[in-house]
Amino acid sequence: MITKTFACPECNTQISCQGNLGDKIKVVCPKCGKKGVAIFAVDKADLKTKTDSLSIEVAGLTKIYKNLKAVNNLSFNVRTGEIFGFLGPNGAGKTTTINMLCTLMKPTSGGAIVCNYDIIKHSLEVRKCIGLVFQDASLDDRLTARENLELHSRLYGVQKSERRKRIDEVLELVELSARADSIVRTFSGGMQRRLEIARGLIHYPKVLFLDEPTLGLDPQTRKHVWDYILKLKKEYKITIMMTTHYMEEADELCDRVAIIDHGKIIALGTPKKLKDNLGGDTIILDIPDDDVEKARKVFKKAKIFDSQVLLSVKNAGREIKKVLEKAKKNKIYVIEANIRKPTLNDVFLHLTGREIREGAANLRDELKRRRGMRGH
Ligand SMILES: Nc1ncnc2c1ncn2[C@@H]1O[C@H](COP(=O)(O)OP(=O)(O)O)[C@@H](O)[C@H]1O
Ligand SMILES: [Mg+2]
Repeated sequence: MITKTFACPECNTQISCQGNLGDKIKVVCPKCGKKGVAIFAVDKADLKTKTDSLSIEVAGLTKIYKNLKAVNNLSFNVRTGEIFGFLGPNGAGKTTTINMLCTLMKPTSGGAIVCNYDIIKHSLEVRKCIGLVFQDASLDDRLTARENLELHSRLYGVQKSERRKRIDEVLELVELSARADSIVRTFSGGMQRRLEIARGLIHYPKVLFLDEPTLGLDPQTRKHVWDYILKLKKEYKITIMMTTHYMEEADELCDRVAIIDHGKIIALGTPKKLKDNLGGDTIILDIPDDDVEKARKVFKKAKIFDSQVLLSVKNAGREIKKVLEKAKKNKIYVIEANIRKPTLNDVFLHLTGREIREGAANLRDELKRRRGMRGH
């Protein structure tokens, strides 16, 4: 008997069932009622029928570095053709997860099927099916854009007769054809990122992994990169798994988002559903430090951080008057009151009591350090 644990494709609830190799067992998710079949696969053909509509299937994926559980028993699925986001603060375990799914690193336990291949047993086949854009810059900046792509296409075994056409195609896709023969060192950060995306596509991957695709880019350039990512999904039907710590990025691009913290998925769903689950809008009251204790007693359900009171309400426009009256009656001085529609940051805040961007300061230092390293 084998015990198989997997995530419900609908609500990500972990489901376990037992069977023998070759068995196909009907399962019903205890949480959402979704019906499915668990296949105790014996060969690739079986895996194929099982995962036709899934490009990535992750079960119990775990990575332990010495004493640190960087990735802690993750189970989730990525559907073919979707943009699936991994959103979480710096150090949450996003890159480690990507590295395992791309076969650059072995899991401590658990595993995954990517493009119908097992990441541990069939790592070469997995590599042929995927493209990867690393978190850190990895172009050779002394070569031209075309030379970088040429080198990569050779490494990936793109046929000589195909190479030129394919390179022109991907350069056009990211609108860098005019700069094909310029040295990469002369490119802006955004152009380099676009070239890296082009490079990840050179061998026609079915699944593209993007690790922090817009890290360190200014907001305008970031938006530009988003357009290319959406184009890949729409026109080329590529499945994309991306990581980010920018909540707007996850919100804007991803069909579904897994929010990850300390190596664990703490929420998974469409951005809309995750935000809707919060129950509506947020009213934010800025109050003096001296009134914080009072506010804690008066607004029992509120989250209070520093001197900000955050209240989740169904309709902020309608309820703000009542809230302000309550504050006044209890002698809580309101310096400023604001209304905010929920963001994914609020979802994270609600679940963890922390903000995703708290890691931003460290990230800036980290980037500075890396840039320094690259200069040598
Ligand atoms: N090679 C390594 N050795 C030891 N610890 C590591 C290593 N790589 C990452 N970590 C640690 O694992 C955790 C997750 O890191 P990472 O996957 O890079 O997170 P993210 O990409 O979400 O920022 C962090 O605490 C990080 O310091
Ligand atoms: Mg990372």
